Amino acid sequence: MFITFEGIEGSGKTTQINLLYEYLKSKGYDVIKTREPGGTEIGEFLRDLLLNKDRHIAPKTELLLIMAIRAQHVKDVIIPAIKDKKIVLCDRFFDATYAYQGYGRGIDLKTIKFINNFVTEGITPDLTILIDYDVIDGLARRMNNTGHMDRFEKEGFSFHKKIRDAYLKLSQEHRERFLVLDGSESVEKIHKIIKDRVDSLINARGL
Ligand code: TMP
Repeated sequence: MFITFEGIEGSGKTTQINLLYEYLKSKGYDVIKTREPGGTEIGEFLRDLLLNKDRHIAPKTELLLIMAIRAQHVKDVIIPAIKDKKIVLCDRFFDATYAYQGYGRGIDLKTIKFINNFVTEGITPDLTILIDYDVIDGLARRMNNTGHMDRFEKEGFSFHKKIRDAYLKLSQEHRERFLVLDGSESVEKIHKIIKDRVDSLINARGL
């Protein structure tokens, strides 16, 4: 089973993925936690380069680096884990590319779809959890937590607003796999909703 987490910077998705991971592990499930960009040795190496705020990276280069990371991640981590009947929790996946490189950077969505299909071999999440959150609050939370801004975080308000709107649009277009949650609710309340949804998905799949 493949579950992805999405949201703007500081939305709280990483906290929620960690909580769900611990919950599923405590119930004895074979679960792995991974992330994009990253998830493999080469992916983590390229992630550092991609997030470095002192580097100038053209939008098309950015897209291709992200897709190169995904190609390695899908082949080495995601497909083998799904084949082994593991539950895969992934912090961001292809919806982030439509949101950031498509709606954020302005790259044609059809081009993204074409390259994405090539690198993912058709892998689509069974469930995508979108934590929707206010842009200003998210960036402030991120700044408080880490004390610095990476190459994406340091983009202006209008960029991040486009990302938030894009995620909401994507969730409308793919209602069958999206669960949208209000990131201003308490961590416990959000975790409970996620747990309930994942439990029922596990039951429905007979895992
Ligand atoms: P993170 O801060 O959630 O770990 O994500 C790192 C950054 O990578 C985040 O600012 C969004 C960006 N990103 C893209 O621009 N496109 C993508 O496809 C993915 C997976 C991430």
